[in-house]
Amino acid sequence: MNLNLTGRKAIITGASRGIGSAIAKGLAEEGVNVALLGRNPAACRALSEALAGDYGVQAPIIQLDLLERERIKPAVDEAVESLGGLDILVNNAAGFYRGGLTDIPEDVLEQNFIIKPIGLMRMARECVSYLEKSDQARIINLSGTRGREPSLHSTMSGPINMGTNSATKALANLFGPKGITVNAICPGSTDTDRWDELIERTMKLHGLDEEGAKALICEEVPLRCVIHMEDIADLAVFLASSRAARISGTAINVDGGRTRSI
Ligand SMILES: NC(=O)c1ccc[n+]([C@@H]2O[C@H](COP(=O)([O-])OP(=O)(O)OC[C@H]3O[C@@H](n4cnc5c(N)ncnc54)[C@H](OP(=O)(O)O)[C@@H]3O)[C@@H](O)[C@H]2O)c1
Repeated sequence: MNLNLTGRKAIITGASRGIGSAIAKGLAEEGVNVALLGRNPAACRALSEALAGDYGVQAPIIQLDLLERERIKPAVDEAVESLGGLDILVNNAAGFYRGGLTDIPEDVLEQNFIIKPIGLMRMARECVSYLEKSDQARIINLSGTRGREPSLHSTMSGPINMGTNSATKALANLFGPKGITVNAICPGSTDTDRWDELIERTMKLHGLDEEGAKALICEEVPLRCVIHMEDIADLAVFLASSRAARISGTAINVDGGRTRSI
């Protein structure tokens, strides 16, 4: 399948690890040059070298902490200058706090909204003048299934991801006439650092060993599987491709069927 991605240019926030780094790799495999935006440039160095070495793409590293509002425009400009244009924006960065409302520290509560639904709108605002020059312009937002079904154990994930889905729809309406598609991907529990923490918590809570905890978590998933970062990256690559030209304003679950609503 020709995805028409070779030589395209992408920006990925929160590229230092987890799903962001998997999406960077998935796009680079298709020949996309990817600017790796991260709070700590040193954490992106190994990935940048691997992408350049393995796939022959450019993978510049740009420092960006999304809590530093005034850094967003310079970081986007720097990334676009380094890449020589922009076709794809992947808003992936997020903070995380597993806990109920009364456990969440006040600063974390605010910051997690600033990083994700607010951060993605700030990123989109700075990128739109570049994206509208592309003939295959894409914005892909990482959301989460809890936006549809809030969790008992992570109060913030619901409103943050619902906000992300809503921002996705609003931006799709706004930027559609400019030829830019905007979509969200909603991962279920995926095997990033958060997965390790989820396993540990489940082991403690239910007095299980690691295998028992995994099995318990997977019981809630109709496909009885763990979601891998590469599963999320595959969908991101498809949404970035020319094959997804007429998909916009939607949020797609990658959760093995776990979400009960449709
Ligand atoms: N993993 C899951 O099970 C799951 C489930 C549902 C939704 N999601 C969503 O999928 C996306 C990726 O998740 P993940 O599990 O890969 O997350 P992760 O492993 O926690 O990584 C988060 C990324 O965001 C970056 N980040 C955090 N705060 C930032 C800030 N202030 N400014 C810029 N970057 C910042 C981190 O950078 P540092 O390395 O500097 O900390 C890291 O690169 C997120 O939007 C998340 O909400 C994940």
